[in-house]
Amino acid sequence: MKFIAIFGTRPEAIKIVPVIKKLRESGYQVIICVTAQQRDMLDQSLEFFEIIPDYDLNLMVDCQDLFHITIKALEGLKKILQKERPDVVLVQGDTSTAFTASLAAFYLQISIGHIEAGLRTHNKYNPFPEENNRHLIGVLADYHFAPTELAKDNLVKEGIPESQIWVTGNTVIDTLLDVINLQSSVVKQEELSMYFKERLNLILADENQKLILVTGHRRESFGEDFRNICMALKEIAEKNPDATIIYPVHLNPNVQKPVYEILGSDLANRIGSTVSKNIFLLEPLKYEDFVYLMSKSYFIMTDSGGIQEEAPSLHKPVLVMRNTTERSEGIEANTLRLVGTKKDIIAGAAQQLLDSKDVYGEMSGAINPYGDGKAAGRIVDVLSKNLMSGRNTEK
Ligand code: UD1
Ligand code: UDP
Repeated sequence: MKFIAIFGTRPEAIKIVPVIKKLRESGYQVIICVTAQQRDMLDQSLEFFEIIPDYDLNLMVDCQDLFHITIKALEGLKKILQKERPDVVLVQGDTSTAFTASLAAFYLQISIGHIEAGLRTHNKYNPFPEENNRHLIGVLADYHFAPTELAKDNLVKEGIPESQIWVTGNTVIDTLLDVINLQSSVVKQEELSMYFKERLNLILADENQKLILVTGHRRESFGEDFRNICMALKEIAEKNPDATIIYPVHLNPNVQKPVYEILGSDLANRIGSTVSKNIFLLEPLKYEDFVYLMSKSYFIMTDSGGIQEEAPSLHKPVLVMRNTTERSEGIEANTLRLVGTKKDIIAGAAQQLLDSKDVYGEMSGAINPYGDGKAAGRIVDVLSKNLMSGRNTEK
């Protein structure tokens, strides 16, 4: 039995690695193919998880558009899939790599396993292009691994047979729990300045200081929304000297430009540069360091999908700086709050979390709806049983 795992970005790596490891532990052959849609952030993850790709399409160019990713990945994947002819192609999530890999597998009539299937906002431009990428993968896939019952219901409503859907939990929790077990008690990343590391230690030692961890990268927020988000962060920092914002900035130039213009003093000096003493802009962090900072944070402000799933496991409230979310279980559980992209609403929600112990307590006490850390094992069991019974070959 042969599998190919195809991925291209940081979150896909973080979430597909536990499945690769479990398949290999069970004796299956797993070929790893990366598109490297995100060259630097993917490599950071591959290095951390000690994963060496068998194929690397190395397709990233600066400021790439969706056509570039799709065309280059489709061309490259055709040759690899024709050569390897795996039993199943595994993809994760909603990136353009995941969509294109599914399309390539479908054209070659190879079965597709979709990890993290069924999340929906029902708004095709938000998140863009991820909502429709995920939907299209759902149309193409044979094995739908839904993280929650809600995700399963979404798929059933779209006509996917229940016999092809399995509720597994989200594999990100498998990775998170593994990394928390290995957790060190310092930020290790060598490239970060001593100044930042020393300041961080002082902040962590001071029980009056509150650490706010921030990330952001969504395409639909580029432009005015991103500037609003930055202005809100600036206001929060200015009003609250007892809060420190730590923001590892995504490498997309559409993100770097407004963030460094509004919040950074010196674009050339990216490591720990800041306009005010209580905002730190950093390079993307290695997963273990990011998890460490999540665990030390008071709350998190983000538009990230993965962080919406991870933070509740650490009992950290999340202000989701987006207009929609496909992670509505977290909203229901009151661990996530959707705050949109308007400056005053974002700043107001952060202020409320800083000021009100009751609001904070309600959000931090919620139970994580996204999994128990055993999702990868469930996925591998399903694949094993189906492949053993010959069901995979039925077209
Ligand atoms: C991509 C995914 C998004 C996912 C996100 C995770 C698509 C369309 N988008 O968005 O779903 O949530 O990854 O982070 O699939 N860049 C670098 N180095 C890197 C990464 C990016 O320089 O390691 C810069 C490059 O200029 C690149 C640009 O960022 O062209 C955009 O990268 P891309 O992968 O297209 O989009 P993301 O916003 O990262
Ligand atoms: N993450 C990381 N380093 C960082 C920021 C985030 O390792 O500096 C991790 C985070 O813990 C989560 C994943 O990256 O597992 C989320 O990636 P991203 O926000 O880029 O993508 P999304 O989840 O929105 O698709």
